[in-house]
Amino acid sequence: MSKPGVFVTRRILEPAMSMVDDFCEIDLWQDSLQPDREELLHHIAGKQGLLCLLTDRIDAEVMDAAGGVLKVISNCAVGEDNVDVPAATARGIPVGNTPGVLTEATADMTFALLMAAARRLLEGERQVRSGSWKTWSLDYLLGADFVGSTLGIVGFGRIGQAVARRAGGFGMRVIYSDPNPVPAEVGIKATRVDFDTLLRQSEFVSLHTPLTNETRHLMNAAAFARMKPTAVLVNTSRGLVVDQEALYDALSSKRIFAAALDVTVPEPLPTDSPLLGLENCIIVPHIASASWQARKDMSILAAENLIAGLKGEKLPHCVNVQVSL
Ligand code: DGY
Repeated sequence: MSKPGVFVTRRILEPAMSMVDDFCEIDLWQDSLQPDREELLHHIAGKQGLLCLLTDRIDAEVMDAAGGVLKVISNCAVGEDNVDVPAATARGIPVGNTPGVLTEATADMTFALLMAAARRLLEGERQVRSGSWKTWSLDYLLGADFVGSTLGIVGFGRIGQAVARRAGGFGMRVIYSDPNPVPAEVGIKATRVDFDTLLRQSEFVSLHTPLTNETRHLMNAAAFARMKPTAVLVNTSRGLVVDQEALYDALSSKRIFAAALDVTVPEPLPTDSPLLGLENCIIVPHIASASWQARKDMSILAAENLIAGLKGEKLPHCVNVQVSL
């Protein structure tokens, strides 16, 4: 029996690539940069499966370019804002994602960024490298304290909760805003507050919300105006959750103390972006989930979702479950 044809928009990690290879006829995009629109539309033609990354924009046009045979879209990411999920649902195509396996890695990176921004790690490192650090002094590169501070977590899903667990070890008080209260059984010491209270009370604000119409530019000028001047913002969610112009104004005017971003708009940021000229802004290249284990497990989940969809089975992780049932 012939194997189902799939378009894989970038090589995934082993053993996941071999799992896909065993079951499918793979058309693998070899370049490390994503296929452009024309290439995507060309390669999806006649394919029953699509395994893509968060940098691929998968909309109705792409789905239709498959010619009506597309059975599954497997997005190798937990966030699925790059896929038009309602369009997939309307076409009866299940969309898979990779939750859970990147929770701890992302929470680790959130803390790394939070501490680096609060304690001016990269600013100090730049000064050492450039030779502009001259001597130890009492008031040199002072930063924020953790013990007794308040961490405000926006979006209290798996990753937000994992960040809260780490905060306990640093003696921080945790508050969170989320449409849904987290059940007491979860056993995390954190208090649910409204967004406004969170902004006003927090020394640290960490974003862990998915990108939706409600969260787009959630962190805007009005939000920054409510934050403490000593506050540090960390974003490991999606770039569009932050209004970058408003963030630039807040950081350059010292309205807030510092920010650390794993995600931006666009990615990568152009090298002349004003944000890159700020000492109090750390920007890293969307690597919060980039640990060996997390990326391997994301690849495996993406392969499992793809293969289940091709077999007509329920996807292990499906964002439009009504289709996968
Ligand atoms: C995801 O999976 O959505 C993350 O952004 C990858 O780091």
